[in-house]
Amino acid sequence: MRLLQHKTEAYWFYRVLSLVYDRWVNPLFWTPAMREAALAGAALDDRSLRTLDVGAGTGFTTEGIVEHVDAACVTMLDQSPHQLARARAKDGLARCAKVLGDAEALPFGDAQFDRYVSAGSIEYWPDPERAVAEAHRVLRPGGRALIVGPVRPANPLVRRLADAWMLFPSEAEYRRLLTAAGFADVALSPVAPAWYRSPRVPYGVAASGTKPAAGSAPPAPAPAPPRERLGAPLRGGERVRTAFRFAAGSLAGALFVPLAAVLALRERWERRRTA
Ligand SMILES: C[S@@+](CC[C@H](N)C(=O)[O-])C[C@H]1O[C@@H](n2cnc3c(N)ncnc32)[C@H](O)[C@@H]1O
Repeated sequence: MRLLQHKTEAYWFYRVLSLVYDRWVNPLFWTPAMREAALAGAALDDRSLRTLDVGAGTGFTTEGIVEHVDAACVTMLDQSPHQLARARAKDGLARCAKVLGDAEALPFGDAQFDRYVSAGSIEYWPDPERAVAEAHRVLRPGGRALIVGPVRPANPLVRRLADAWMLFPSEAEYRRLLTAAGFADVALSPVAPAWYRSPRVPYGVAASGTKPAAGSAPPAPAPAPPRERLGAPLRGGERVRTAFRFAAGSLAGALFVPLAAVLALRERWERRRTA
């Protein structure tokens, strides 16, 4: 059902979540160690790389990017003004451009960037095929894309909750999305917080690919127009459905917080015991 895989619902979700995101939510699910390991897939090997961070939010991933790339070369894009307002308050990101916009309709010309990074945003995109095609379009030939996101859980109960909440692609789906958009050398590497134990599937992946040099591959087909637009007028029934999806989706998402908190406490306690 994927209650929050919609733009309006995600907008309201982050209207609320932005208040506690950096302090209470992110540290459980997306840590500096995970970020550093994941960013290796973006090959940020030159400080002058023009880098786009899509779904940049409060700028946690961008803070990792600016350790490798000059902040003035980095553009942050997000559809949530509330998340971007938090990023604006961070001194280390002051020189990054901040753009309000949609991952599925990037407000940039073709071949404008050397690197495309998106972490923890694909879950909310109603049309991920289109968003990945947009990543391909705005990259110059030879440019590299990195998409970090969660993987569909193996535990049937957790999977049900995840499926109700938002998009958790399988590893094969990440691969398919990047390949279908025209990326080559697609590679996946697992990412997980210290409390994650399941040997069955990774917690999340850092999926990367390179846009082939000009002329070495047929151009990817032009993406279809976005299926949803943030701010599109809602009629009576749709308003009720949106409110329901926002409330139920937020609840499903909120259930992951105590679950992760308990597992994180257990991991900390075990580490202390064996120290
Ligand atoms: C889990 S947060 C990740 C933020 C950041 N990348 C980080 O590492 O902390 C997901 C972000 O994706 C943004 N988002 C969701 N759908 C989007 C869309 N269609 N276009 C742009 N941003 C989107 C949300 O507003 C939110 O800030």
